[in-house]
Amino acid sequence: MIILGIETSCDETAAAVVKDGATVLSSIVSSQVRIHHRYGGVVPELASRKHIESIVPVVDQALSEAGLPLPGIHAIAVTQGPGLVGALLVGFSFAKSMAYGLGIPWVGVNHLEGHINSVFLEPDPPSFPFVALLVSGGHTSIYYVTGHTTAELMGQTRDDAAGEAFDKVAKMLDLGYPGGGIIDRLAKEGDPARVEFTRPYLDKSSFDFSFSGIKTAVQRYISHHQDQYIEQIADIAAGFQEAVLEVLSYKVIGAALKKGCKEVALVGGVAANSRLRNKLRTDAESYGIKVYIPSLDLCGDNAAMIAAAGYHCLKGGMLAELQDDVFSRSK
Ligand code: KG4
Ligand code: ZN
Repeated sequence: MIILGIETSCDETAAAVVKDGATVLSSIVSSQVRIHHRYGGVVPELASRKHIESIVPVVDQALSEAGLPLPGIHAIAVTQGPGLVGALLVGFSFAKSMAYGLGIPWVGVNHLEGHINSVFLEPDPPSFPFVALLVSGGHTSIYYVTGHTTAELMGQTRDDAAGEAFDKVAKMLDLGYPGGGIIDRLAKEGDPARVEFTRPYLDKSSFDFSFSGIKTAVQRYISHHQDQYIEQIADIAAGFQEAVLEVLSYKVIGAALKKGCKEVALVGGVAANSRLRNKLRTDAESYGIKVYIPSLDLCGDNAAMIAAAGYHCLKGGMLAELQDDVFSRSK
């Protein structure tokens, strides 16, 4: 089954063509970073307008790179939520009209299920059940994943998401937006032991997270070291990053041990972090746990993961209807 995936939940207009939920025939991501950069975050109204401009060329490019004419598409999978409502509506309405016009089935996909399914686009995917750490700009959650579309939420952030904390700390340090990749690169030049921050464990026995405190700690450090902090910027980035990643790694391994799982998946935009990819693999190895992480282009928002999740939704008999609507938050 060949599925056209469409993703417009935030600031990436993406379309992809995926075969049988596993083989990516094309994946196009048009980022709006240049537009939102000067505001230090995503401006929802600008995001919606840009999606409207980009959706047709992005879908056209995905179809042409896959070498498929429109009749070659068997179904459409589109992100239904969570995300920015105005942004979601562009992709969702587009998919709805296209499926109606072509007379093919279509399905609304939960963006988070999309991220979890991103590991199945790699040649050696995990087997069920496994534990997944989803870390993105909007979410930080641990799931016990029992099937492609079934997962139990074990814990989540009580305030900021990990990616959001990276973005906010980068903004405090005047490094630009989005901050995750910038802090990742800068931290390589710094020493995490030189500027240490308290690890935000919250409660070591819980799988919930809290990152607003460490954000405030960085702010406090900057205001107490107004004269020196510029020279220490790489050490601050490294110290902040290490504190966040230590907690992420500790909790996801703890969740896997609790469930008796020997497999863990790391997904979402923050899964692109080079230190986290290495650290989690090393930490997990000592417990005999294997870590699955998608390639970099499948970590951030993309439509291939939406098509992959959509394939399993359709196989499970789910179908969207004309009156269906988007949702901003997960139920
Ligand atoms: O999954 P994603 O593309 O969008 C959401 O669904 O939120 O994640 C975006 C987040 C941003 O907060 C960004 O700063 C973060 O992922 N990110 C990173 C890295 N690359 C992107 N965080 C840490 N290290 C990175 N290398
Ligand atoms: Zn995402």
